[in-house]
Amino acid sequence: MQQLIRGRVLDFFADPSETDLSHRYHEDGAILVQDGRILAVGDHTDLARDGLSQIDHRPHLILPGFIDPHIHFPQLQVIASWGAQLLDWLNTYTFPAEAEFGDPSHAARMADLFLGQLLAHGTTTAVAFCSSHRTSAEALFAAAHARDMAMIAGKVMMDRNAIPAIHDTAQSAYDDSKALIETWHGQGRQRYAITPRFAITSTPEQLAAAGALAAEHPDCHVQTHLSENRDEIAYTLSLHPQARDYLDIYETHGLLGRKTLLGHSIHLETREIARMAETGSRAVFCPTSNLFLGSGLFDERRLRAAGIVSGIATDIGGGTSWSMLQTLNEGYKVLQMRGQKLHPLAAFHWATRGNALALGLEAEIGTLAPGSAADLVVLDPRATPAMALRAERAATLAEELFILQIMGDDRAVVQTYVAGRPMKTA
Ligand code: GUN
Ligand code: ZN
Repeated sequence: MQQLIRGRVLDFFADPSETDLSHRYHEDGAILVQDGRILAVGDHTDLARDGLSQIDHRPHLILPGFIDPHIHFPQLQVIASWGAQLLDWLNTYTFPAEAEFGDPSHAARMADLFLGQLLAHGTTTAVAFCSSHRTSAEALFAAAHARDMAMIAGKVMMDRNAIPAIHDTAQSAYDDSKALIETWHGQGRQRYAITPRFAITSTPEQLAAAGALAAEHPDCHVQTHLSENRDEIAYTLSLHPQARDYLDIYETHGLLGRKTLLGHSIHLETREIARMAETGSRAVFCPTSNLFLGSGLFDERRLRAAGIVSGIATDIGGGTSWSMLQTLNEGYKVLQMRGQKLHPLAAFHWATRGNALALGLEAEIGTLAPGSAADLVVLDPRATPAMALRAERAATLAEELFILQIMGDDRAVVQTYVAGRPMKTA
């Protein structure tokens, strides 16, 4: 069955930071959907015809659903934990919360709530760290598959320096990851990410196992953390004394490449930036988390100048909002502190096509190009009285987008579609 979704339709075909010709905008636009995919996008008058079922979202904006390329599934109850920087925060709040995900019924309940929060905030695809328990990844994949939601996830590999309840071993992490890849990678819209947590919690033996998995499954993503916090870096280098720098640990174990996502990537050496660029590894900016944990200021311009592709993500639960709009808000402020600018067009590109490019999935998600999945977010720039008041003085699309970027959150998300189906209830 075909369906027309009508509204003010916006998407991007190029990066607004690099060219003025970056987006398509249809003031009275429509998206023609069939079997979960986009058949056509254009002016409503060109696509409407008698007998076609139609949902009218005017005057709201319709964009590709947001993509969150770095989030921790077992941290949905860790958000807003007081007073710590990274290593204390992990030990005090995070590891105990993750230990509970060894219970399959807890993991299943949390998986539904996790996806519910993503969808309420307009996020249709996420790249998630699960707990070290295989069951936590099973629960998340099963829940995402049931919703036909494109999810990239992996169980974290971590065999030291946490607490026994969440330690695996090099061998069990390899075996569990392998089994999950065989069951879930390519199952519907599910994809696997090989997930060594970071170099502090993996022995060299386990990092080698992760590298072996990456070599055996080159179509899987790899995700980890890099240079988030000064104490983390010092501890990491003390554990890996032979390494030239933090990145070198991952490189030595065969973990870099175009499918590798390096969360945070804040305090980088010149050599690390050059190697990230040469290997095509991606950086992921997590602004609310970097501010909340006092980690540091991401240097977008420096990484871009080196040719590194970056994503932007919530990093729940070090991050403080599920909303990619609020993530763009804090991203704007972090870049202000660096004397850099995040224009609203560039911001909305980043949360959609930009993150899809970082994942190498731009043919499936992140734009409204025909053939893409009909994963959509419907946004109201006048969602709250304060936003409506500000919008009285908004003369351009960019100004409206900036209101959403700075003042928006889940209240601005009118509807979220996954593969053509409306997912937001109440
Ligand atoms: N580094 C290793 N694990 C984590 C985590 O769970 N959150 C953040 N922000 N950084 C990490
Ligand atoms: Zn993280």
